[in-house]
Amino acid sequence: MNRVCEILGIEKPVIQGPMAWISTAPLVAAVSNAGGLGVLGVGFAPEPFIREQIAATRSMTDKPFGINTIMIPQNLDHITSIITDVKPPVVYADTIDGLDSALCKKYFDIWHEAGCKIIVKASHIADAKIAADAGVDVIIVKGWEGGGHVTFEATTVLVPQAVDLLDIPVVASGGIADGRGIAAAIAMGAEGFELGSAFMVAEETLVHPNVKQVVIAAGDMSTVITGYSTDEPCRQIKNKLANELIKIEAENTKAAAAEILRPVAESSLKKAMMEGDMEDGAVMVGQITALITEIKPAAAIIDDAIAGAKEILAKIPAFEF
Ligand SMILES: Cc1cc2nc3c(=O)[nH]c(=O)nc-3n(C[C@H](O)[C@H](O)[C@H](O)COP(=O)(O)O)c2cc1C
Repeated sequence: MNRVCEILGIEKPVIQGPMAWISTAPLVAAVSNAGGLGVLGVGFAPEPFIREQIAATRSMTDKPFGINTIMIPQNLDHITSIITDVKPPVVYADTIDGLDSALCKKYFDIWHEAGCKIIVKASHIADAKIAADAGVDVIIVKGWEGGGHVTFEATTVLVPQAVDLLDIPVVASGGIADGRGIAAAIAMGAEGFELGSAFMVAEETLVHPNVKQVVIAAGDMSTVITGYSTDEPCRQIKNKLANELIKIEAENTKAAAAEILRPVAESSLKKAMMEGDMEDGAVMVGQITALITEIKPAAAIIDDAIAGAKEILAKIPAFEF
């Protein structure tokens, strides 16, 4: 059996990447009901919202699902008190560059004792190794093709390195939306696949309709990374806001730019996703937006991608070198 499925208790090794304001209970439950792992995007959310979303998800599915947190000290006591109380099946921890080994050990033990499986998403091989040594169950490595916060390495480069180094199953993330991406990830040794951008346009995703239209219309070169100079790189649609952010970075020192950008960044994702402001909002999405062309149910996103991968893999033995 596929190790990702076995460990997480799911039927299909597809993980829906958590997305703040986007992966709320209806999408998460739809993904989990379809046999994948839905993950609530509640990394920076207030406690009542997290509890409400977990309860809502449980009312819509009896399948495993995850809740998102960020591996930074100021976040972890707060989320751990919720975890030990409501015991979500999976805790999905995102990393900001530079994971702390002692912090991982301390909290992973508590989360495991609460009966949770743990996934860590890393963008650096060093972070993936620290998480693995601290006892994480599944590691995701995310390349810079992906939507939202990224670093500087590509999925095709990260996945084989993680597979070579680690004994635990590796999930590929960043730039995957269909069977071709999944087949490529399998060729690199991945045992699971995380899709984020692809689920932005799922029928069950409660974002402003403008967002889905922009994701579907976008092509290559439609996204840009802001926040390079302030060490907070973020891939999003090239729009008025992104151009302004890049201008601020170019015209200010790192410290001054970070000071100006932070408040803008904090409210801009909500402005795009909830209010539908496609110019002054941050329309975070990955490069794969160019291959996302239709709105369909979460179950179809998963099943079409798996069927596509099976078709490609069946043809590979006939490839002539
Ligand atoms: C709009 C948006 C919001 C995101 N928010 C989060 C988040 O809150 N926490 C997190 O761990 N990852 C977040 N991500 C990253 C996704 O979980 C996932 O890793 C990424 O989308 C995978 O790459 P892909 O977009 O190429 O599929 C976000 C991505 C997008 C597109």
